[in-house]
Amino acid sequence: MADSGPGAAEAPPLGRETLARIRRSKQLYPWASSAILPSLWAVQEELGYLTPAALLAVAEELGLEPSEVEAVATFYSMYFRHRAGEHLIQVCRNVSCGLRGADELLRHLERALGVEDGGTTEDGAFTLEGTVECLGACGGAPMMQVDRISYENLDAAAADAVLEQVRSGAPRGRRSRARA
Ligand code: FES
Repeated sequence: MADSGPGAAEAPPLGRETLARIRRSKQLYPWASSAILPSLWAVQEELGYLTPAALLAVAEELGLEPSEVEAVATFYSMYFRHRAGEHLIQVCRNVSCGLRGADELLRHLERALGVEDGGTTEDGAFTLEGTVECLGACGGAPMMQVDRISYENLDAAAADAVLEQVRSGAPRGRRSRARA
């Protein structure tokens, strides 16, 4: 049985390869703060999300204040602070999408998936995020991204078709429906 007493060594929050990537990122830029973004990607690729211990480790490796790393980690919606599902659905609710039905789209997805905004389905297949800022496809509003692939001009039926396609594992590419 592993020693978990007070004197036991704690497992490092990050693996050697991730630490090496963080150090390489630091060498690429004149300012250590410029290496925060690639370092956080490296962490997320290893762990699936950004743990408090991992953020501290990044700050230590880069020689920065933990608050500086924390500020970057919380600013961008692409970084997860909790374990996400296999597929990430992000519904844009900025102005163009909001005016063309983003709220209704989000409510529909909540019902279809059985989760609230921010939740992950019981089977771990989908995480739904509905607090995302403009995703740069305003002309196709309302839109969402699934695993960073954009789906535009969505209504309930089109959103259902996207979910079905993702569930089936069919190959996916950028999708834009003709506006009704
Ligand atoms: S407002 Fe939704 S993509 Fe720009």
